[in-house]
Amino acid sequence: MTDLRTRIDEAVAFLRKRTTARPTVGIILGTGLGGLVKEMRTETVIDYAGIPHFPVSTVESHHGKLIFGTLAGKAVVAMQGRFHKYEGYTLQQVTFPVRVMKALGVGRLLISNAAGALNPLFRKGDVMIVTDHINLLGDNPLIGPNDESLGPRFPDMSEPYSRALIGIAEQAALDLKIPVQKGVYAAMMGPNLETRAEYRFLRTVGADAVGMSTVPEDIVAVHSGMKVLGFSILTDECFPDALKPVTLKEVLKIAGKAEPRMTAIMKEVVKRM
Ligand code: HPA
Repeated sequence: MTDLRTRIDEAVAFLRKRTTARPTVGIILGTGLGGLVKEMRTETVIDYAGIPHFPVSTVESHHGKLIFGTLAGKAVVAMQGRFHKYEGYTLQQVTFPVRVMKALGVGRLLISNAAGALNPLFRKGDVMIVTDHINLLGDNPLIGPNDESLGPRFPDMSEPYSRALIGIAEQAALDLKIPVQKGVYAAMMGPNLETRAEYRFLRTVGADAVGMSTVPEDIVAVHSGMKVLGFSILTDECFPDALKPVTLKEVLKIAGKAEPRMTAIMKEVVKRM
């Protein structure tokens, strides 16, 4: 395989031929959370399938489009549909679009996901601003030779989610009168949801929410010097002593109900950036 830098350059050259857009803000939309796109003024839509070295998404609830346009008047690029380790991709593949966004000029990345609530004070349907994460994927997108032109060998992780952006998001939510939670997101490999014992473990180690994404993209974004803001929509309650079965249908239903609140905050954050 060609080296990472060459693959990034080829993807960027492909995209530059198809759009003159110069986004500075990137957005990754999670499961059932593609609606922010409706708030965008779309300029160019490019299927992942055509982009050199881009993985193609396999989950039916993900669309697989890179959308260039404006949101609240700012040039943005949104990923509608993302990749997960459980689909069989390497974390280098999962995070390749983040590398490409960075090379396109993106300096700030908004990431959304659907997650299970572990904090007993949280409820399904709540929107959570991600303040920190725990990587329990047993893997890391930075494993392998490090290209110093992309980022340092041992990136600092004292601020995985930008304190400044968290502050902007909190104030935006307050002004919009939308309640938000703040908490720590733990990433599990999946694809099965967790057992009661695993939920108990996750709560014990300090997680407020659990999901199967976001952490790889965050690590690569931080590695490459981007500022990240993360949002979780809590789609189910992972309380070990009162656990009910969860279906994808229910997760998507709750995600759809909560999405307008998250979308409103994200739009206001982009406006205030
Ligand atoms: N685990 C539990 N519940 C969830 C998850 C998860 O990974 N994602 C969305 N709801």
